[in-house]
Amino acid sequence: MLIPDDQRDAVAIELVTKTEHSDWQEQQSAQTRIWLDRAQFKGRAGQFVFLPDEAGAPNRLIAGVGDTLGFESVADLAKALPPGDYRLETERFDDAAVYAAHLGWGLGAYRFDEYRKAPGPDAARSLLVPEGLKAVLDEVASVSITRDLVNRPTEDLLPHDLESEARKLAIAFDADFECIVGDDLLRAGFATIHTVGRASVSAPRLIDIRWGEPDHPHVALVGKGVCFDSGGLDIKPANGMRQMKKDMGGAAHVLGLANLIMRRKLPVRLRVLVPAVENAISANAYRPGDVIRTYKGTTVEIDNTDAEGRLILCDALTLAVEEEPEIIVDFATLTGAARSALGTELPAMFTNRDDIATGISAAGEALDDPVWRMPLHAPYRKMLTSPIADLTNAPSSPYGGAITAALYLEHFVDEKPWVHFDIMAMNIRHRPGHPVGGEAMGLRAVFDFLAGRFGA
Ligand code: BES
Ligand code: ZN
Ligand code: ZN
Repeated sequence: MLIPDDQRDAVAIELVTKTEHSDWQEQQSAQTRIWLDRAQFKGRAGQFVFLPDEAGAPNRLIAGVGDTLGFESVADLAKALPPGDYRLETERFDDAAVYAAHLGWGLGAYRFDEYRKAPGPDAARSLLVPEGLKAVLDEVASVSITRDLVNRPTEDLLPHDLESEARKLAIAFDADFECIVGDDLLRAGFATIHTVGRASVSAPRLIDIRWGEPDHPHVALVGKGVCFDSGGLDIKPANGMRQMKKDMGGAAHVLGLANLIMRRKLPVRLRVLVPAVENAISANAYRPGDVIRTYKGTTVEIDNTDAEGRLILCDALTLAVEEEPEIIVDFATLTGAARSALGTELPAMFTNRDDIATGISAAGEALDDPVWRMPLHAPYRKMLTSPIADLTNAPSSPYGGAITAALYLEHFVDEKPWVHFDIMAMNIRHRPGHPVGGEAMGLRAVFDFLAGRFGA
């Protein structure tokens, strides 16, 4: 974990890059060179070796950082070093690299501990964060919110639990909190959210958080909050259902992002909308062939009850549009097709504004939080037609599924500036700084873009 540097004793980590490693090794004492050879130290990221000091005690710690210092350089050390307190010796590296290295450690140290015995002292490997780098703590805390929510089993994160989490966040920042629950959704016109969520033991709801000064630019965040996606009556096969506790990953992203925006006091008027439902199966579940009248008035024929995300999102997007935000950002674990196209680690980004695409792509590139733009290819709109309603929720052809899902959402944003992320929200393999399980994808890139555009 990361802790603010309180001047306590800590082991200093000397950093050596792959390119400088042989020159550096030459300068060491004969004895030290033998130790380095024996450890086969080459300066690779994640490599470390304890060396004897003058008195022969193993008090010098050398770590490789790879080609250059960055996000991945020391991320694995957070779990590999012996328990204790550490600091990085970074004087000769530039600020962005030093920031990235601390962030990598912070995100690499993450563990989901809610269902384990209290972690013993051996879990504690602390990196002291210098005063000037405290912003990194905000990012780690925000990403951890997202990861924790995704990792938590559905039994403990049903729609009413997601509401409690959102309410806690609102209270922490003195934000306004409202939530429309159950049949009140129908009275307010949010029939899609109610219909998708009505078969669950936990009533469907629309979470609504507002924060910030009324005269600041208005930013709306919308997150898919499907607490579990069984597929509904169009039930998923077992292997497709296994990870579906993460189908509220979009909600987890917007709550983590909201936390970062509020912690950094970004001068925006923020609104966070999370439609929270469980796509469950019961006698009152919605069915293929049903037609729902959306909040916008557009009718949708249900071709497939497993295409539920776009249904709950479309009403939340319509509501967001009413206040004419400067930008609407949505995150959703929306389609398997986005994963077929880009794999699990690269979020698909769709937007109706080129400047938003350029800005977020550049931020993602710079911050080790990559995203990839995909097209809102207009001719595919035809695939969303229904013989009896204005739209279908699922085209009959499986091709281009991430695009047709995005085109469905686009219908509801009325050409307002909008960006949509179709994300995996979890890591299925380990990479430095990215433990297996819930993950924030594109969150830091979007924050950086918003801070650049709307920051003080
Ligand atoms: N939550 C799923 C999408 C998903 C699956 C995201 C796997 C990440 C990993 C979504 O609700 C869904 O089931 N989508 C269907 C849509 C189809 C029925 C048009 C899909 O992608 O197959
Ligand atoms: Zn689904
Ligand atoms: Zn889903």
